Amino acid sequence: MSKLYRFGVSLEKALIDSFDNHIKTLQYNNRSEAIRDLIRNELIQKKWKEGGKVAGAIVMTYDHHKRDLASKIIDIQHHFHDLIISTQHVHLDHDNCMEIIAVKGHSEEMEKLCSSLKALVGVNHVDLSISGTGD
Ligand code: NI
Repeated sequence: MSKLYRFGVSLEKALIDSFDNHIKTLQYNNRSEAIRDLIRNELIQKKWKEGGKVAGAIVMTYDHHKRDLASKIIDIQHHFHDLIISTQHVHLDHDNCMEIIAVKGHSEEMEKLCSSLKALVGVNHVDLSISGTGD
């Protein structure tokens, strides 16, 4: 871990009380941990908006019985092979599949991949969660 710096922040009492209640429900042990996560999240969102490199997970569900859908999904994944790190397929039940696609790359390409998957008939839901790459 890099060197820690301390700094003071002045806030209205009502705001800090609300924040303390909020982070208590999120099970943070102290304000520093909560503020660190807020800052990291803000920087990841900034990186995303500016087209920087981020890591992410796409979770999608689709109709197992839809003709040719699985092969169309695989074709799209091959097209985005530079972006995709790994995929996990889960047979949710008799009719539904879930796929978790780990990705690392630039936001514009991730949005293209998600849009391509969403546009397929038989895909029920596609969601992307992003995180930092550790860089
Ligand atoms: Ni399946």
